[in-house]
Amino acid sequence: MLTLLHIDSSSLYGRSASRELNAAFVTESNARHPDGRVIDRDLNATAIPPINEEWVGAVYTPEETRTLKQKEVLLLSDALLDELEQADEYVIGVPMHNFGVPSVLKLWVDPVARVGRTFSYADGRPKA
Ligand SMILES: Cc1cc2nc3c(=O)[nH]c(=O)nc-3n(C[C@H](O)[C@H](O)[C@H](O)COP(=O)(O)O)c2cc1C
Repeated sequence: MLTLLHIDSSSLYGRSASRELNAAFVTESNARHPDGRVIDRDLNATAIPPINEEWVGAVYTPEETRTLKQKEVLLLSDALLDELEQADEYVIGVPMHNFGVPSVLKLWVDPVARVGRTFSYADGRPKA
């Protein structure tokens, strides 16, 4: 059974080209995998705070010694990572905003790029 993570990052709705393309992809995927599952994550409708010192401190604290507060700080990151890890395929709608990705997409990348979970350092180099 295929799980597709469907991410939109456009700030527009009715006239968004990337949302329309993504919707077409999801429709086709559903036709090919009738028993599949789609996880919808609309980044324009998700309040993801920028990472801060508290967040970085929590990430670098070993899981077994994290305080309750540190665990709370990582709850949203954990939920977004669960979605990513459950999915077999991803489709991400990315409009160009001021010669870069929409800021909401960058706000998503930071909490899912987590040392010890999505990457680690091997011989001083980041490893996926
Ligand atoms: C705030 C904003 C900034 C944009 N900046 C750029 C840009 O730097 N370069 C570009 O080619 N298009 C730019 N565009 C145009 C969008 O990339 C284009 O309209 C695209 O279709 C947006 O995707 P969407 O329709 O899914 O929102 C910008 C649009 C918006 C709303």
